[in-house]
Amino acid sequence: ASAPAWRAVDDYFTDALVREDDALASARESGERTTMPNAEVAANQGALLGLITQLSGARRVLEFGTLAGYSTIWFARAVGPEGKVVTFELEPANAAVARENFERAGLADRIELVEGSAADSAERLISQGTEPFDLVFIDADKPSNPLYLQAALELTGPGAVIIIDNVVRDGAVADAGSDDPRVIGVRDVVDAIAARDDLTATALQTVGVKGWDGLIIARRT
Ligand code: DHB
Ligand code: MG
Repeated sequence: ASAPAWRAVDDYFTDALVREDDALASARESGERTTMPNAEVAANQGALLGLITQLSGARRVLEFGTLAGYSTIWFARAVGPEGKVVTFELEPANAAVARENFERAGLADRIELVEGSAADSAERLISQGTEPFDLVFIDADKPSNPLYLQAALELTGPGAVIIIDNVVRDGAVADAGSDDPRVIGVRDVVDAIAARDDLTATALQTVGVKGWDGLIIARRT
């Protein structure tokens, strides 16, 4: 199927099933004001993240890579009023946009946006002995995926869910000889997951408004 057909199918299902209200719609539109326009998850992917959060009963979510906070809003709604989302953003300009979106969505009280390098921020949470997270979404700079998985494992316990975005990249992931650091970052994190017998994982390709990409979903036993 051609890309336009994928787009039409995404539009059909999203219009029919996904409730993207004003807060989510403006968060999506504000992505244009970030350093990476159009990088946020699609609406139907955001809904999937929210559903996985609820299906797993997650109350504490950690996100690597806030951008405009679109996926963050899906997580924050899914964890409910007693839940908490901690999200890491490197770029101050993106963090400012995200903060506006959290305020507009009325979710600022359950979202903690931590500005700075995600590696440093995670290290700080680890050294502070932060209460474990139930779900971790890794969606920041792709070469650091292995580092972020390692941090996620230090910040979670048994039963935790770990989701990694953008693991297909137009099929480039299947090229074992790729010298693209983003592809290497995915392949190395796949190897790291495979090497751990306390992680049950799968990966799914997705097509749609975001083109051809995919995600890894893992659960810690
Ligand atoms: C890119 C990053 C993302 O997280 C995404 O969802 C899409 C694209 C990127 O690095 O180009
Ligand atoms: Mg992404």
